[in-house]
Amino acid sequence: MTSPIILALDTDEISTAQNWIAATRKSIDIYKVGLVFFLKHGIAGLNELRDKNEFELFLDLKLHDIPNTVAGAVASVKALAPRFLTVHAAGGDAMVRAAVAAGPDISITGVTVLTSLDANALSSMGIAQGPLEYAISLAKVAVASGAQAIVCSPLEVSAIRQAVGPHIELITPGVRPMDSELGDQSRVMTPEQAIEAGANFLVIGRPISSYFKNSAAAMGERAEEILESLA
Ligand code: C5P
Repeated sequence: MTSPIILALDTDEISTAQNWIAATRKSIDIYKVGLVFFLKHGIAGLNELRDKNEFELFLDLKLHDIPNTVAGAVASVKALAPRFLTVHAAGGDAMVRAAVAAGPDISITGVTVLTSLDANALSSMGIAQGPLEYAISLAKVAVASGAQAIVCSPLEVSAIRQAVGPHIELITPGVRPMDSELGDQSRVMTPEQAIEAGANFLVIGRPISSYFKNSAAAMGERAEEILESLA
């Protein structure tokens, strides 16, 4: 079975990413690579990581452009065969459909409302809905346009699950094991609570990666401990 934990490789160093993967590969199958790593190292950097360890890729590029450009962007990363590739659902139905058509073997994953946006921020942009209602609207648009997965806050999981049905994969960042520091995450749940609420995958970064400063083994044990708490 695929592990429900996705480790965020939030680093701009190939060697660090490589060390984190090697330390946790026993309990993690999917690794999230985002703009910080990808804009610096690109496809060659990812190939370098995969030469050392096999893993599935969550490519978090949050694409948002006109449909033709997004289709071209998906085609440009298709050879990496990411399991998940993120697009902003706010790009609209034609954009999401273009991404799905360009990457039929990829789970095109809709990002709903950035958690950095609150009701005031949305309102100042002319969006009358609050963050939860808007996230539900965006999730519905993405799924109706062929997205197979949605990224949402753990606090939105159950409402979005109701809105999109049982077959869409819900991926949630912002989870914090009981004993870990909040960092800059404010609206959080524990991994167990997020899975219970209906999440399929949890994106976890610092609650696991911060253990690497102790040792690679400590980081590996931390990932294993969180995985076991979900069993
Ligand atoms: O270290 P931490 O567990 O907070 O990392 C969570 C990961 O999920 C980071 O890569 C972060 O950018 C991402 N993320 C998030 N909140 C969102 C969307 C993505 O924390 N709403």
